[in-house]
Order: sequence, then C-alpha cells, then structure tokens
Amino acid sequence: MQKACKHLKDADLEKLEAICVRHRKGKGAVIPILQEIQDIFGYIPEDCVNFVADRLEIARSHFYGVATFYSQFHFTPRGKNIVTACSGTACHVKGSEKLISILGRELGIPEGQDTSPDLNFTLEKVNCVGACSIAPVIIINNVVHGKMNGNKVAKEVIKLKGAGSDDGK
Ligand code: FES
Repeated sequence: MQKACKHLKDADLEKLEAICVRHRKGKGAVIPILQEIQDIFGYIPEDCVNFVADRLEIARSHFYGVATFYSQFHFTPRGKNIVTACSGTACHVKGSEKLISILGRELGIPEGQDTSPDLNFTLEKVNCVGACSIAPVIIINNVVHGKMNGNKVAKEVIKLKGAGSDDGK
C-alpha cells in the first residue's frame, strides 16, 4: 500500500480516514465516496482519490473510471458561483454562443478554461436543460433565467459581482 500523499493536510487526512471507515465494507461504494470527497473539497483532488483507493484497496483506476463517466464529478476546483449556459439547439439558434462569450469575458474566465483565477466563477456549457420554450437559457447558481439577451446577461453579471463574490469582504 502506498503512503498517504504528503500534499494532504492533517485535517484533510482525518476527513478522508472518516470516509474510509464509513465505507470499509462497501467495496461498491465508489460513487458515494466520490460524492463525499467532492462535498468536502468542492471538487475531487487526485491526492484524495489515491489515498482513499489505496486505503480501501480498490483500484485507483476504478475511481477515475467512474468519476470521468459522470458529469457531476469535477477534477478541478470550481468557482463559488456556477453559471451554466445552455448550448442546445434551441438556445444556439437564439444566440446562446454570443451570451456565452459575454459571460466568459465579464466573469474573467480565461480562454479554454471554465473557472476564473480567483475561483469566484465557473462557466459551464451544457446541452438542452429541458426549457427550450424559454431559450436561450442560463442557470445561475441553480436559478433558471430564460429568454436571455445581452442586456439581461450584463445585469445578472453585475448582480453576481455585487453579491459578495469575495465573501462580502
Ligand atoms: S436547447 Fe436550451 S433549453 Fe433546450
């Protein structure tokens, strides 16, 4: 068995140990374990997966296989605010790409990435969210906004930035 990763802090190791204790007998509990790791860290750090996999003697590859299959799991840190832009056909026809580019620029998301360097915002594109009648659709922190346009997006961005994206400091 490999040693615990030296990058993990003691407090993190305690949390991971607790996960291992809870799932010691559950060899098939890969999904709940991944969910617990993501709940704690906000994403799934590689070190954590390796630690838990080795402790439970489950192949690391099994965790990675499951985690990459389900879109709910994320391997990189996510922003405090999650903006989901629909780029399904109905939304695309109604101009979603332009809105996505406005969002990317205004939220400070670097080209080719999905999260701002300050970890305040994550912008993700998804296919149809099932609300085509109000396309184009943007979901901001789980709130659905339909019939969006450039002005509405700009207003929502101002609200997001003013809503204490830095914990109100
Ligand atoms: S394509 Fe965007 S909600 Fe259906």
